[in-house]
Amino acid sequence: VPKIKPKQVFSNQLQPRASSFKVAVLGAAGGIGQPLGLLIKMSPLVSALHLYDIANVKGVAADLSHCNTPAKVLDFTGQSELANCLKGMDVVVIPAGVPRKPGMTRDDLFNINAGIVKTLVEAVADNCPDAFIHIISNPVNSTVPIAAEVLKQKGVYNPKKLFGVTTLDVVRANAFVAQKKNLKLIDVDVPVIGGHAGITILPLLSKTRPSATFTDEEVEKLTIRIQNAGTEVVEAKAGAGSATLSMAYAAARFVESSLRALDGDGDVYECCFVESELTELPFFASRVKLGKKGIEAFISADLQGLTDYEAKALEALKPELKASIEKGVAFVHKQA
Ligand code: NAI
Repeated sequence: VPKIKPKQVFSNQLQPRASSFKVAVLGAAGGIGQPLGLLIKMSPLVSALHLYDIANVKGVAADLSHCNTPAKVLDFTGQSELANCLKGMDVVVIPAGVPRKPGMTRDDLFNINAGIVKTLVEAVADNCPDAFIHIISNPVNSTVPIAAEVLKQKGVYNPKKLFGVTTLDVVRANAFVAQKKNLKLIDVDVPVIGGHAGITILPLLSKTRPSATFTDEEVEKLTIRIQNAGTEVVEAKAGAGSATLSMAYAAARFVESSLRALDGDGDVYECCFVESELTELPFFASRVKLGKKGIEAFISADLQGLTDYEAKALEALKPELKASIEKGVAFVHKQA
């Protein structure tokens, strides 16, 4: 297992660099899109920030453009402006779609968000097929396979550059474990594998760094809390949406990692939901090494030496994850 550097969004380690990149956010006026736009605007690695939404994006862009950081902010709205938004982008982040309300699962969002992701990824395929694509819109377990099928149909699929953003699961696992074990937050790193919904989210607590020991009861409680953390926020917001601020933080970390990888940093590792051969499932979240061309390596060592609890949880999540992947693939084929 490689040595993983502690990571925080826009840490002091990130000095301004010679190179800079162009990032688009699709769904930029939403609960996630707005704080995510702000965090990306703060990055010294970004020269252009393109904000797209079907509503209210002009004000968000005007507001952000007044921050005295280098990234040039432009707004785009409506299908007719989507192509111009996307041309020349290095990274495209997609948080467009509806969020959960209390009582809903991520899969309940499928009917609306599947179509939104399909349309947006078609435009990405036509205008910046070489970009890193970060899918945030839920259900990620299905929207990533949808994006892959769309890109295949367009003849531009590069599995090394399509990512389902599961960083929030890692951020939550790190926060909860540090709290529980009284560890220094910046040092804690817990890989989270599987998918991004309910039991498909599998934190590998036995691989926590720095190494920590947990009782069986602690493992059970922490695992369930990490799996249900999204629902914790949905219920606390009581109908006003799902996680937006912590999600924006997590998405910004994944953007920063992608930009560092594009910039040639040889030490960038993140967990994400991607096309994978680590298990028999076609898509699987695990830690990967990122480089200039996208995924450079899968960190298979994380899956070795699992505890009994983790090994059982891994087998238990597979049928649900498989069904969600197949649902996404079938959606695109039905429409064709
Ligand atoms: P929101 O409703 O506040 O914002 C969504 C934005 O998308 C709105 O501004 C809306 O106008 C825009 N939009 C809708 N259709 C669009 C289209 N066709 N093209 C462009 N923009 C469009 O929702 P929020 O809270 O920002 O959540 C967005 C998505 O992120 C949801 O699907 C939610 O479930 C997901 N999410 C994912 C997480 C993850 O860990 N991957 C965590 C939290 C939320």
